[in-house]
Amino acid sequence: MSFLYKKLVRQLLFSFNPELVHDAVIKSACVLQRLAPLNSLVSLLARAKDMPVTVAGIDFRNPVGLAAGFDKNCEAARFLAGLGFGFLELGTVTLRPQPGNPKPRVFRLRESKAIINRMGFNNAGAWDAARSLEGLLPLPIPVGISIGKNADCSIEGAPQNYLETLKVLYSYGSYFAVNISSPNTLQLHRLHEGERLRRLMGPLLSYAAGQGRVKPFFIKITPDLPDAGIEGVVRLAAELGFGLITTNTTASRDAVPPYWRSYEGGLSGLPLRKAANSVLSRVAALAGGRVPIIGSGGIFDGPAALEKLDLGASLVQVYSGLVYEGPLLVKEIMKHLDRSRRGTGVSG
Ligand SMILES: Cc1cc2nc3c(=O)[nH]c(=O)nc-3n(C[C@H](O)[C@H](O)[C@H](O)COP(=O)(O)O)c2cc1C
Repeated sequence: MSFLYKKLVRQLLFSFNPELVHDAVIKSACVLQRLAPLNSLVSLLARAKDMPVTVAGIDFRNPVGLAAGFDKNCEAARFLAGLGFGFLELGTVTLRPQPGNPKPRVFRLRESKAIINRMGFNNAGAWDAARSLEGLLPLPIPVGISIGKNADCSIEGAPQNYLETLKVLYSYGSYFAVNISSPNTLQLHRLHEGERLRRLMGPLLSYAAGQGRVKPFFIKITPDLPDAGIEGVVRLAAELGFGLITTNTTASRDAVPPYWRSYEGGLSGLPLRKAANSVLSRVAALAGGRVPIIGSGGIFDGPAALEKLDLGASLVQVYSGLVYEGPLLVKEIMKHLDRSRRGTGVSG
């Protein structure tokens, strides 16, 4: 099946503009998820092996999730949940709707199995996402919601902007990913700085603590953070009690041909893997088991997922791999994880 995807379907899809294809996939998923028998058939075909794991108090059927950015408006979650994932991360959602950057803003680097995107948090806003989720939840797997800052909101106004987004979406998420690492929103990376991050996370954590159900938070960090920055973020995560997602896309073009240097945006896919893994290892070493970690960046097969779990991630996420390897990727990854778990005698 995945051979068929790579030989036929991918050839066809890759002959069109990447964003156009993505929008068509999401629109089709929205239609298909309303047709219960079709949705059940897809779930049956893509069903992945179970490997239960509990992270940050949430039970996951398996450790492989969908990374943020694939379903920005939280509108295709029921269909996506049928692709074998252990969890979905939807968004990134901002408080108010915004168009994002001018098109074209997504590029395939086929020879490197990579993507450059400078979408800029294009989304329909928190209220629209809430309306969609109202109709789609509950799902059989946990759903994280990634929240971000509106482009016209200053860095000083960010804590309030994130907090208001959280309030609109709080009842829908199993956990919240706080996206401070997109390279496509001006100055967003400055939220990694110690005091700024504390001022951002304090109100979000206080709000959650005041609700009937306290939900966990994960900060998604950039792979472009210097070591001192990583240390500061991990220290705060351990102190305030939130998890980390390592990592978002990179602004670096070191791992791709020089031609791509003139393309602005975040690079994802195979060339990101090494940098993301190096940040993951560093975070895991500093955290010493005190901070739950989700690994993201360059997972295209089972061994790459296992590598991140071995480096200290409790969960992993895929995006570019899904584009290049097709909708049975999670099933294939889980087959590998299941085999290696049996091989080492580790129990789930
Ligand atoms: C087109 C595109 C859009 C993305 N949008 C978001 C986003 O809105 N929020 C976010 O946190 N990450 C976003 N990402 C980053 C992914 O979630 C993921 O962390 C990154 O691509 C690395 O994983 P990968 O190598 O498996 O793609 C996006 C990635 C791509 C390719």
